[in-house]
Amino acid sequence: MDEELPARLRAVPVLAGPLPRFDPDGADPAPGRQFARWLDDALDDGVPEPHVMTLSTADRDGKPSARVLMLRGLGADACSFVFASDAGSHKGHDLAANPHAALSWYWPHQGRQIRAAGPVEALDAGIARGDFLGRREASRIAGFTGRMSAPLAGPGAYDEERRRAADLVAADPQAVPEGHTVYRLRADEMEFFQGDPDGFHVRLHYARQGDDWKRGLLWP
Ligand SMILES: Cc1cc2nc3c(=O)[nH]c(=O)nc-3n(C[C@H](O)[C@H](O)[C@H](O)COP(=O)(O)O)c2cc1C
Repeated sequence: MDEELPARLRAVPVLAGPLPRFDPDGADPAPGRQFARWLDDALDDGVPEPHVMTLSTADRDGKPSARVLMLRGLGADACSFVFASDAGSHKGHDLAANPHAALSWYWPHQGRQIRAAGPVEALDAGIARGDFLGRREASRIAGFTGRMSAPLAGPGAYDEERRRAADLVAADPQAVPEGHTVYRLRADEMEFFQGDPDGFHVRLHYARQGDDWKRGLLWP
């Protein structure tokens, strides 16, 4: 074990600021709109890759796994989050067996964390098709390469598969891989965390209640 590691980690500043202040009384009553506000701030402030988020899933036995994905858009009800993946991947199997998941974002420049959790559904094939065909060619080729999350024998096997996928996309630019799926997580719970350099963090929690949202603060 690296004996110096704990000290080196302690020396890295976290939530050092200056950070924005968050007045929970001024928050939007709908968490989807509050998310859109914070996402706008992140885009305006040049937060790197603010649309990269962690998706946590669990299999039918409750065994969890997490990975980062890209947010592809917000659902029409403004409290749902759209992402795309391969239904045959590890997460795809988890979601088929247990269609509930959690998303989280962390934007260190602003000391902000957002969490969302709720049921996930796969959207119809036409939406998946539009999503896939809207991608640049390299990304479409990657989408036809092998099977996401299956064991790969070595880099040589990948090169060969990629050449095969490039030929396939060149021959049929409208082709869409069978497993390509657009998913939507409809949040029934969300939390907005605003970090503070002195530890006065603000946590605002929303829970869906029918067509409404109940809002409340959490101890930091
Ligand atoms: C910045 C970044 C963005 C990513 N975006 C996606 C994405 O939008 N969809 C996706 O399926 N995988 C994406 N990945 C790859 C996933 O993190 C993961 O490796 C892959 O989906 C397989 O996950 P699984 O084995 O848990 O199913 C991204 C990876 C990184 C580093």
